Amino acid sequence: MTTILVTGAAGFIGANFVYYLLKNRPNLRVVGFDALTYAGNLETLADAMQSPNFRFVRGDITDAAAVAQVFSEEAIDAVVNFAAESHVDRSIEDPQIFLKTNILGVQVLLDACRANGNVRYHQVSTDEVYGDLPLDRPDLFFTEETPIHTSSPYSASKAAADLLVLAYFRTFGVPVTISRCSNNYGPYHFPEKLIPLMIANALEDKPLPVYGDGLNVRDWLYVEDHCKAILAILEKGRLGEVYNVGGHNERTNLEVVKTVLRLLGKGEESITYVRDRPGHDRRYAIDPTKIRSELGWFPETTFEAGMEKTVQWYLANRPWWEHIRSGEYQAYYEKMYGNR
Ligand code: NAD
Ligand code: DAU
Repeated sequence: MTTILVTGAAGFIGANFVYYLLKNRPNLRVVGFDALTYAGNLETLADAMQSPNFRFVRGDITDAAAVAQVFSEEAIDAVVNFAAESHVDRSIEDPQIFLKTNILGVQVLLDACRANGNVRYHQVSTDEVYGDLPLDRPDLFFTEETPIHTSSPYSASKAAADLLVLAYFRTFGVPVTISRCSNNYGPYHFPEKLIPLMIANALEDKPLPVYGDGLNVRDWLYVEDHCKAILAILEKGRLGEVYNVGGHNERTNLEVVKTVLRLLGKGEESITYVRDRPGHDRRYAIDPTKIRSELGWFPETTFEAGMEKTVQWYLANRPWWEHIRSGEYQAYYEKMYGNR
């Protein structure tokens, strides 16, 4: 492989993956492709832009002509697709863009792979396609065989995309793989998501809005470990296969919020319980046996070390998130939290 197209490269995980590739595969050419929606941020890619191995193209994955153009300009050997509408709460407010980007955009990318001699395609999916697990059955985990059973328009759109990817493998022979990862955290995480929202609110002495009883469980993975898993699947994964990615780091939301406050030296009086998310998934927990045994992947960063690094990053990079929070984000925050 010599050239990789990374779609959604200006978002949280896509940008971290670009940096991971530039550092760990210095002979690769990396082409970042991103529509720069509210979640895409070119400031995030500022350092990558200095590398001769990186090129950024602004484009929409639902725009077949724009995708065909980048394929005609670059000798693309593989596509790794991070581009998506990714926030569950936004999908509850307005599902349509989720269906457009997350399903039709994937179809456009798969068609481009077909049209260019069956280019290798990796779909970055999510554990949310499995629905949720009950809190009183800690012995249960998501395996790759767990039935698809989605809860939100976001997860339904990601599940539809997964099925489409597998259909292109079986019907057209496009060489595909899929990863389904648990919740990521780390640098460049958009401050609408739990951990960066809580860090930013705590630093600005604002209330920390915890949905429902705060006992919902997520299985947290430091973003670099997710990047490592995707590269392992891209290079060594079996075609047509799904790989779950997660590191047995289950925490309740309250535990996560209290960890943020402890690391910042703040008291817990700012925790505020607000109306729950409709259809709120109770617990996610990944069984990573397949990726560990087949590809030798394991997470390197513990939750404690990862949270320490993440909080330090947000302290050291205040302009990055303050810039985001000073724009249209304020209208978003008022709409989502104003009456909650
Ligand atoms: P993000 O919202 O931070 O970034 C998404 C990026 O996609 C943004 O840069 C945005 O501009 C871009 N984008 C959106 N629509 C586009 C379009 N039509 N054309 C081109 N670019 C477009 O999301 P993220 O958290 O980095 O998630 C990346 C992927 O990983 C998503 O597919 C998501 O479903 C999946 N995932 C996320 C997590 C997580 O915890 N964040 C966990 C598992 C899987
Ligand atoms: O599991 C993988 C998924 O993780 C990804 O597919 C999604 O793209 C990603 O956004 C994430 O989804 P979640 O819904 O789990 O993440 P979020 O950060 O929105 O919420 C995490 C938990 O925290 C969830 O139980 C809801 C709760 N929460 C969230 C916010 C934003 C709060 O209690 N308060 C909040 O303000």
